[in-house]
Order: sequence, then C-alpha cells, then structure tokens
Amino acid sequence: MKRLRHTRHTVAIRLNGIDRTGECEPRTLLSDFLRYELGATGVHVGCEHGVCGACTVTVDGLAQRSCLTLAVVADGREVRTAEGLAPEPGVLSELQAAFRRHHALQCGFCTPGILMSCADFLARVARPSEPDVRQMLSGHLCRCTGYSNIVSAILEVASGNEDSPDA
Ligand code: FES
Ligand code: FES
Repeated sequence: MKRLRHTRHTVAIRLNGIDRTGECEPRTLLSDFLRYELGATGVHVGCEHGVCGACTVTVDGLAQRSCLTLAVVADGREVRTAEGLAPEPGVLSELQAAFRRHHALQCGFCTPGILMSCADFLARVARPSEPDVRQMLSGHLCRCTGYSNIVSAILEVASGNEDSPDA
C-alpha cells in the first residue's frame, strides 16, 4: 500500500523581534511549532482545545490561542510570546514586575498566556475598569490564585500606579 507523504512547509515568523524559520507539517499547531521547532517553551499547553488560555500568544499584536492556530497561518507574521516581554535579560517588564509584587502567580502554568492577553488588552484599553479586566481574564483558567491578585496587578499597571502593597 502506498504510504501517505506529508508535505513539509517552511514557516518564517518574526518571533519576539527576531526573524526565525522552521519546518512543519501543514497540520502542525502554532503552539507545537513554537515550543518544539523554535524552542519557545514559555508557550504552555494545557487543554489543547481553546479553553484554558495557557497557550495564548500575540500574532500581529492580537492575542490568539496558539493551540487553535496552524503554524502555517502564522507565516510572515509577528509573533510574541512571554519570552519577548522582558526588555532585556534579567529585567522584568512592568507587567511581570506587577505580577511579582502582587503575588499574582503560584504554579505559574497559566501566567504566560495571561501576560500575553494582557499585552494585547492593555495596548487597546488604556484605562480598564475592574469588570473590564475580569472580562478579559474570563478567557483564562487559573487553578491556583483565585484571580484577585492577578486583577490587582493588571489594574496597577493600567493606572500607571507603581505603588504596591509590599514595595
Ligand atoms: S492549551 Fe490552548 S487554550 Fe488551552
Ligand atoms: S498560577 Fe497555577 S494555574 Fe494559575
């Protein structure tokens, strides 16, 4: 019997500001491409069904579930993952620092996806209300924190208020 041969595609993306190229099958998910082909293991994979939000990245600035996106669709696009948030090695972004100050993570599995949704959200909504933030977070499952500290961290960054409860 003749074996089915899958065509390999070359996918070129700008990942966190650096041009990267890799190969994948037509059916390869962007989450798998980023993790296994390009080594961006900050992309966490939980449900693989678009429910938990852990795999969220931005594609051309818009938050997107990488487990529901084919890698070939991202060809030629700008993709950002949590690895690309820090301005330089060893320095946290404003949002990451706020998460740290507010104890907005415990196991951290959900955190990269939430940070990437926040990156998109805060770029579009300058002064979000608490309900706005909670609405955005409704696309993410966190089993540890109870969400309150995450909300506090995001609202602090949104308000430009650097004061923190334990600074
Ligand atoms: S792994 Fe993509 S939404 Fe859960
Ligand atoms: S910090 Fe553990 S799932 Fe959110």
